Amino acid sequence: MAGATMLHSSSQSLLPSLARRYSLLFDSCFHFRRLMSTGRLFHSINPNKPSPLAVRAQARRSLSSNKVKDELASPADLCFEGPLKIIVYPDPILRAKNKRIGTFDDNLKKLVDEMFDVMYRTDGIGLSAPQVGINVQLMVFNPVGERGEGEEIVLVNPRVTRYSRKMLPYNEGCLSFPGIYADVERPDSVKVDAQDINGARFTVGLTRLPARVFQHEYDHLQGILFFDRMSDEVLDTVREDLEALEKKYEDSTGLPSPERINTRKRRQAGAGFGKS
Ligand code: CO
Repeated sequence: MAGATMLHSSSQSLLPSLARRYSLLFDSCFHFRRLMSTGRLFHSINPNKPSPLAVRAQARRSLSSNKVKDELASPADLCFEGPLKIIVYPDPILRAKNKRIGTFDDNLKKLVDEMFDVMYRTDGIGLSAPQVGINVQLMVFNPVGERGEGEEIVLVNPRVTRYSRKMLPYNEGCLSFPGIYADVERPDSVKVDAQDINGARFTVGLTRLPARVFQHEYDHLQGILFFDRMSDEVLDTVREDLEALEKKYEDSTGLPSPERINTRKRRQAGAGFGKS
């Protein structure tokens, strides 16, 4: 975290005001303490780093998976009671399949409202449905991150149709991993197909911080968590924290942790941006 702190302080003079504001807004939900200017780190040689080729391969898989009809959510799948609570690792809800939404009714609008409430309360700019215990393909998003400002975007059944070749590292955090921050490399921009709250289809191009947040939340919809994207070296810096969350889960539920970071295989060089 020392590195992140150092970068954070340097951001005060280097970042444009809006981006600086983002870095503050993310403090309890989604953390971007690394600057775009640190993109040079991307050029360091790291055999565990996902290659742009692997990213494009993932994009192709994502495109081809569009042809496969995912299971549609039933009204029971979308049933919830407020206030919504954040699901924390290693709760298996975070790894469960998220069903496609086919009904665009008042209940969905109510869920979206509640998700925006949680998002604003936690100073986030994006939140995925599985993180509040609802396993459906839904995320909410506001690039400004404050109620009444910016644009509230609802992404239902989103799909990435294009990733940029350019990759950048950022220091990320996640509400489902309280207190854990580490570098994750992701494409700098993405093109997304999705449906809005009324079911209308739209396409949006996202870059830089909005693209970063979107991809983090989009991963949640695929059951992918941010440490899945970390290199082995980075993962080693948060391994004990992940184990502590696993122990906390076991102590509070009386159940064995459904996954353990220490049984994760070391990454193969050149592989790894996929879910495997
Ligand atoms: Co997250």
